[in-house]
Amino acid sequence: MSDPNPAPTGRLLSHFANRDRQQQSAGWSELWDADESQLWDRGMPSPALIDFLDSEGASRLTGTEDGRRPKALVPGCGRGYDVVMLALHGFDAFGLEVSPKAVETARDHAEKELAKPSAYSFADQDDKRLTGAAKGIVTFVCGDFFQNDWEAGCFSAGEPRGFDLIYDYTFLCALLPEMRKDWARRMKELLRPSGLLVCLEFPLYKDLTAPGPPWGLQGVHWNLLAEGGDGIVDQQTSTLATTGGQGSFKRILYIKPERSYEVGRGTDMLSVWTLKRES
Ligand SMILES: C[S@@+](CC[C@H](N)C(=O)[O-])C[C@H]1O[C@@H](n2cnc3c(N)ncnc32)[C@H](O)[C@@H]1O
Repeated sequence: MSDPNPAPTGRLLSHFANRDRQQQSAGWSELWDADESQLWDRGMPSPALIDFLDSEGASRLTGTEDGRRPKALVPGCGRGYDVVMLALHGFDAFGLEVSPKAVETARDHAEKELAKPSAYSFADQDDKRLTGAAKGIVTFVCGDFFQNDWEAGCFSAGEPRGFDLIYDYTFLCALLPEMRKDWARRMKELLRPSGLLVCLEFPLYKDLTAPGPPWGLQGVHWNLLAEGGDGIVDQQTSTLATTGGQGSFKRILYIKPERSYEVGRGTDMLSVWTLKRES
């Protein structure tokens, strides 16, 4: 299936030009309120994430040690295609959005999609899960990723906090570079000790000095998660492969996915991270 939408254009750049950190959330909400989500909406869940979920590497997530359904979080989930798809794959799936209109839009989408799932949520179009069996729960929460007040909407009283899987696609690249270090800190706080952080790294073709969103991310995940840096990298250091460093995460998978969205095909990378054990 080809992308229904082209790569983001200058509209996003001009909308966010000269907005400081305090004005970012309002900026996204304005775009949702003006019905401009087509600027980034890909119209379907991530084929690369679907293939990862069906792979050996993700099989540890299908059963948690205490027999409960695994919990997944998609921060900056937009219309929630990946949230619904994760629920169809057996997760209790949570989508976080800072925009109330986005949450409303995602809830509408989920209601229709869970009643009659689209084939695009599965690699195999004859997948039995298309009948809707083995669904997890879908919840959309309105909140700011950098605050923790929304977390109460994801966990029942007494339940240990933390997600078994967190998926990032076009959330990190939507943030001002100065916010990246806090993104990594929050990911660490929100992931269970045995959980997986899955990132579909995009855009990797974009010059790191060019303005965003989307902001170019070549080398940024590695710097933030493995090296414990601030995520502000230049073209030269971004391509230096090192053995890691002071970061809290260990990269356990790094692949060019066979299937991805048209806009990132051939350049997107899928990285999967676990928390380093505290010694
Ligand atoms: C580029 S869009 C990507 C949406 C979605 N991941 C997709 O692929 O369609 C970034 C999204 O992040 C949301 N967002 C931005 N800042 C946020 C924050 N601090 N907390 C939660 N959501 C945020 C925006 O409202 C927007 O929907």
